Amino acid sequence: MKTRIEPYKIKVVEPIPVTTRAVRERALEQASWNLFRLPADLVTIDLLTDSGVTAMSARQWSGLLSGDEAYAGSHSFLRFEEAVRTLTGYAHVIPTHQGRAAERLLFETIVHCGDLVPGNTHFDTTRANIEHVGATAIDLPIAAARVPSLDLPFKGDLDLGRLEALLEATPRARVPLVVVTVTSNGCGGQPVSIENLRAVRGLCDRFGVGLYLDAARFAENAWMIRQREAAWSGRTPREIARAMFDLADGCLMSAKKDGLVNIGGFLALRDGALAEELKRMMVLGEGFPTYGGLAGRDLEAMACGLEEVLDPAYLADRIAQVADLGDRLHAAGVPTVRPPGGHAIYLDSRAFAPHLGPLDLPGQSLACALYLHAGVRSVEIGQLMRGRNASPTEEPVDLDLVRLAIPRRVYTCCQLDYVAEAVTDVYAAREALLPLEIVEQPPALRHFGARLRPRRAPAPREPTRTNGASVGQA
Ligand code: F0G
Repeated sequence: MKTRIEPYKIKVVEPIPVTTRAVRERALEQASWNLFRLPADLVTIDLLTDSGVTAMSARQWSGLLSGDEAYAGSHSFLRFEEAVRTLTGYAHVIPTHQGRAAERLLFETIVHCGDLVPGNTHFDTTRANIEHVGATAIDLPIAAARVPSLDLPFKGDLDLGRLEALLEATPRARVPLVVVTVTSNGCGGQPVSIENLRAVRGLCDRFGVGLYLDAARFAENAWMIRQREAAWSGRTPREIARAMFDLADGCLMSAKKDGLVNIGGFLALRDGALAEELKRMMVLGEGFPTYGGLAGRDLEAMACGLEEVLDPAYLADRIAQVADLGDRLHAAGVPTVRPPGGHAIYLDSRAFAPHLGPLDLPGQSLACALYLHAGVRSVEIGQLMRGRNASPTEEPVDLDLVRLAIPRRVYTCCQLDYVAEAVTDVYAAREALLPLEIVEQPPALRHFGARLRPRRAPAPREPTRTNGASVGQA
């Protein structure tokens, strides 16, 4: 059979809001053209993130009821600890309420002011936590990662030459660890190969530096290794994931992604002395080491999610669902980051709207147009998110993207067809995308709180496409 079917059936449903264009126009105006300010009940298809928005399985929901809420030594913790040990091979497992709490705990303990922390491309919160202790986060992606249209299998790989040069030029004591993010969210959800990880391990050994994985999307990475790295084609996702973990000294995990849960995270590592120190520190902010800021039921759901996520049927469907959306957009001529990522499709905003300059915020303009046209919420990862001073002299960022992140087990193929149609409609009428400007911005993480507006009156042209919806921004 050629038709791909989701490897699960739906047991509980939640209605999705269907709105009119007039309602969306008003909502966007009230949200100051910032999609983070929109009430979620005015969003039809929500592709803002794939984090914490997973649909849990019947097994996970039933696990919630058997969660043991004991303060210390709960059996849910023991089950969770066992699941993480079996997956990673790391002896020490420290639960945290989400990924960034694990980052903060590790970096506050082993990273110091003036240190350098290299990685393929650090996620925002990883970078923020490194900078919080006065250190510098250094991105060393391979050059191809910066060329959206280039179709290569492992654009998440770390640039080995640049890592070697950095380690040679920096005193050992100034580089406490290297972090490799699998898959690389900052580079379009692209995977990292075992070959690259092994070479990074080699460099870390040569210079005596620790290697940690940011493992938020480890299972998606493992599946793409199976598809793209010949030596691993016949192996199970669990074996490949284990090979990834075997090459590192520990991992940071946001279980809100490949843990298939709505909240949770952990740190797991081999070093017992460091684990003891981390446990002492975690009591200050996260809680006792056997619950780490979570309820026993959350640990139960995570233990179960970490097993389910390695089901080949689940992963085959997950990666194909995202790839189908990407391939359909690509076939329609829409400029995207190639190849499709594991958890999201990234639109290349500058190629999408070449009539807009980088400081016209083309990504945000495109994201707003998608919302206005079809009620689809995406997220800008470009000038608005990564630029700094909101003035005509602001430096253009290197890449301007819009991410369509696909929640796990939430939307059907048909709903993603609707998204593809919405994007192609907006692309067909792309000259109607208006320049935006920032009216007000908070000092940090400006994309969350900024207020924006179109720079000039709405374009008169409004080509009608589907459902009476139309493209253009007002
Ligand atoms: N690492 C990566 C690679 C991530 O993508 C995220 C979160 C985190 C760490 C932090 O984890 O949210 O549990 O504290 N990414 C979300 C996103 C927010 O939308 O990509 P957290």
